[in-house]
Amino acid sequence: MRILGIESSCDETGIAIYDADKGLIAHQIHSQIELHATYGGVVPELASRDHIRKTIPLIRQVMAEAETSPEQLNGIAYTAGPGLMGALLVGASIGRSLAYAWNIPAVSIHHLEGHLLAPMLDDPKPEFPFIALLVSGGHTQLMEVQGVGDYQMLGCTLDDAAGEAFDKTAKLLKLGYPGGPKIAECAKQGNPDRYKFPRPMTNRPGLDFSFSGLKTFALNTLHKDGDDPQTKADIALAFESAVAETMVIKCRRAVEQTKLKRLVVAGGVSANLHLRQRLGEMGDKLGVEVFYPRQEFCTDNGAMIAYAGLLRLQAGEQDENAFYARPRWPLNELNKI
Ligand code: KG4
Ligand code: ZN
Repeated sequence: MRILGIESSCDETGIAIYDADKGLIAHQIHSQIELHATYGGVVPELASRDHIRKTIPLIRQVMAEAETSPEQLNGIAYTAGPGLMGALLVGASIGRSLAYAWNIPAVSIHHLEGHLLAPMLDDPKPEFPFIALLVSGGHTQLMEVQGVGDYQMLGCTLDDAAGEAFDKTAKLLKLGYPGGPKIAECAKQGNPDRYKFPRPMTNRPGLDFSFSGLKTFALNTLHKDGDDPQTKADIALAFESAVAETMVIKCRRAVEQTKLKRLVVAGGVSANLHLRQRLGEMGDKLGVEVFYPRQEFCTDNGAMIAYAGLLRLQAGEQDENAFYARPRWPLNELNKI
């Protein structure tokens, strides 16, 4: 079974072909970072228009690289949500139309399920059940995962998502967009002994997060101590450490609560090396195996959508002749397969 995956929920056009026997055979990502950089964040209308320009040429390119003709495809998976409505509509309408024209099934995929399964694009694949920490630009969720579609929420953010906190803090520090990689880069020059930021919501029980206070903490520190390069690096490091340690504390609690010994970390922020190192240390101490997607598949991509589509099509799921775009779509509304 060979599946074409299309991702267009935000500011990346991602196209991939995944084969049940051969694995991932081709993939391309077109990032819109430059397009949005001047505005300091994603401009939805510009994002939609760029997806319109890029999706079909990228599909052509990936099919050529995979030496795959439409007759060799067994289905098309596209991201149906959550995300920006206009951006989603591009991938959904193109994906559904091509499937109709080529007389193959289409399946609409939940973007976060794609992220969650992305570590399975490489070996060794994490086996179910596991704890999942999903940390992206729009979401921060801790879940107990028993199987595909079987997601039990353990905790989530009460305000900013982890990636959003990185992006907003980077903006305060005038580091540019997207903030995650910029903060990580700047933090390398930081002095770990200068500031200690709070670890929000760790002094009470529970698995929820709150990151908006850290941003304010960064702003106040900046106002107090000035914005010379060293102070900015020290703030970036203090912020990154606070986010990472907060996540470690919550993951440790999730391990104690669920007794599960596998942890999957996915979504854009899972690319963060400081976070990976801290979670790795926690894993070693507790005997917990920690899985991540490969770096390029932490952020949005088509490969994770093709893979999730394969699992759902293999399980007999497919859409009727309609296309779906759901900017808001709770993960617990998915079918278990
Ligand atoms: O998963 P993703 O590509 O998009 C959403 O589904 O939201 O995540 C994007 C987010 C952005 O907020 C970006 O700043 C963050 O992931 N990010 C990082 C790193 N790389 C990307 N955050 C921290 N460290 C990184 N290395
Ligand atoms: Zn994403």
